[in-house]
Amino acid sequence: MKIVKIGGSVITDKGKYRTPREEVMESISKLLGEYPGRMALVHGAGSFGHEKALEFGLDVPGSISGKAAEISVVINDVMSLNSMFSEHLIRNGFRGVSIPPHAIYGSNGLDLSPVTYLLNYSFSPILFGDIIMKDGKYRIISGDELCKALAEKIRPDEVIMVTDVDGIYTSDPKEFSNARLLKKVKASELSLEGKGKDATGSMMGKVENIKTMLPFTNRVKVINGNYPDRLRKALLDEDVIGTVVF
Ligand code: ADP
Ligand code: IPE
Repeated sequence: MKIVKIGGSVITDKGKYRTPREEVMESISKLLGEYPGRMALVHGAGSFGHEKALEFGLDVPGSISGKAAEISVVINDVMSLNSMFSEHLIRNGFRGVSIPPHAIYGSNGLDLSPVTYLLNYSFSPILFGDIIMKDGKYRIISGDELCKALAEKIRPDEVIMVTDVDGIYTSDPKEFSNARLLKKVKASELSLEGKGKDATGSMMGKVENIKTMLPFTNRVKVINGNYPDRLRKALLDEDVIGTVVF
């Protein structure tokens, strides 16, 4: 059993509001459609989530009162992305069924029983970065945080996180030319400075979530989704360029 998270940075153009990257969705969908093993799939929000979340100030959790219209806009946008990506996946033979996180979140937190239910029928549940509500308050739940919750529930062999850089570096490779790719690293030795630019902390948020997943899985791989062959190799447990956290 694997958990695969496709970052919003991969399936959308993160700088341009509501801009999908359909060709990448298609190539990733082909690979996932061919994969015979059991899997739970998660995707990020990219430009269907972060731009408006930051513009509306929803990156800071708060009271629903006065923010309902904005929350509805963002939830509708991430559901649109989910629907676009699902089209590609299902056309390519992926037996996926979407579970919107806001619809399974209640007073007891996330109810992941629909996930195990679908897995038992050989479907792959598809979850995504979303906004959840409880006790009159909202907060963003990232795809990375959902991976942790899923890992705790379904205990996968590994979690594969697909993003738009080759893995976890010593610093942001888009800003620092001397950034070094970490190939294999113990969770306890992993720490990144800073806050991250998007609504859920970018790679810093990912690293914090990865640390919380390790008690429930053997390893977490971080790979670049702009090279679909790397995802194919990662799914087949072959050596691949990227970071393995254990
Ligand atoms: P995704 O949308 O795939 O979940 P994020 O945008 O949240 O990914 O995080 C990936 C981004 O984090 C990269 O595009 C990169 O610019 C940035 N980043 C910041 N620090 C690092 C680092 N130390 N290693 C790798 N990427 C980093
Ligand atoms: C963010 O989800 C959800 C919202 C902004 C509503 P993620 O944090 O998983 O999205 P990506 O992968 O970074 O784009």
